[in-house]
Amino acid sequence: MKDFLVTSDFSTDHLTSLIGSANRFKQGEVDDKPLAGRSVALVFFNPSLRTRASMQVGIYELGGNAVILEPGGTSWTLEHREGIVMEGNKTEHLAEFVRVLERYVSAIGVRTFAGLEDWETERADPILNAFARYASVPIINLESAMHHPCQSMADMMTIREKLGAGRKKVLMTWAWHPKPLPMAVPNSFALAAAQFGHDLRIAHPRGYELDEELVAEIEKEATANGGSVEFCDDIHTAFDDVDVVYAKSWGGKEFYGNAEADLTHRKGLRSDWIVDKPKMERTNSGIFMHCLPVRRNVVVTDDVIDSASSVVVDEAENRLHIQKAILSDLVSD
Ligand code: CP
Repeated sequence: MKDFLVTSDFSTDHLTSLIGSANRFKQGEVDDKPLAGRSVALVFFNPSLRTRASMQVGIYELGGNAVILEPGGTSWTLEHREGIVMEGNKTEHLAEFVRVLERYVSAIGVRTFAGLEDWETERADPILNAFARYASVPIINLESAMHHPCQSMADMMTIREKLGAGRKKVLMTWAWHPKPLPMAVPNSFALAAAQFGHDLRIAHPRGYELDEELVAEIEKEATANGGSVEFCDDIHTAFDDVDVVYAKSWGGKEFYGNAEADLTHRKGLRSDWIVDKPKMERTNSGIFMHCLPVRRNVVVTDDVIDSASSVVVDEAENRLHIQKAILSDLVSD
């Protein structure tokens, strides 16, 4: 596989070997420089702290040079649709952008969030897939409309690091947030948890269902890898006996294009759909995870995120190590 777009493009054995490689980077057991004398472009359509910093540092530590581009900011606005008459406000087409860029670099990372405007269009990840279509160098998904595989790999690495290898009871819970957010993180977390054979419980209120095709894929992966998936709409019982609590807010797909309707729908959910100490006490001494950034005392209370059970900073650190493993794997092929 040329690209790193979604974890389901790879076998669980391959993903496990990437975590092994990431651990060797983390322990300082390897100092490979597969990017010596080479550059990697990082294209950010959206803001970032962790992804941008960890990719830039990781590329440097692998001996390479990061070229950061921000379409519409430090580089031209980009059109991705084929056959379009470019008479609007987009200056350059991805066809030229990618074909020029790959004359300079050995791989391209792309961050392109969902616009939360048109579910049927965005669920097909059109911008990320246009990059992959035009490029002959590897494309790395740094969070697209539908997936954030680097995050979910860091999440799987963190679960293994904190709780050991093997099947764990993992809760992924929706949380209230003052605005609808993309679904890439929950999609990728659930998919990776299924690929790693965990017992996954997904808790959300009505209206925040994941994509049906993706759910079918998650269920298939769980069965194939000895795990399970269950859904729950009771935020309190959802926490019972789990080893891992993964919190994330996301927008309802039926509300794409109508943020006001989503905000109306989620009214009344705020007081319940928050991770707090009484809920964490229902777990099996569970760890608390979140991809960050997180709104304190909205998604999670201070006494949970500041507690010994919170692993959010280690989780963010692991982005660096797993991305070095992914980059090494892609450019070594
Ligand atoms: N978790 C994550 O991707 O963080 P950033 O948005 O800061 O990159």
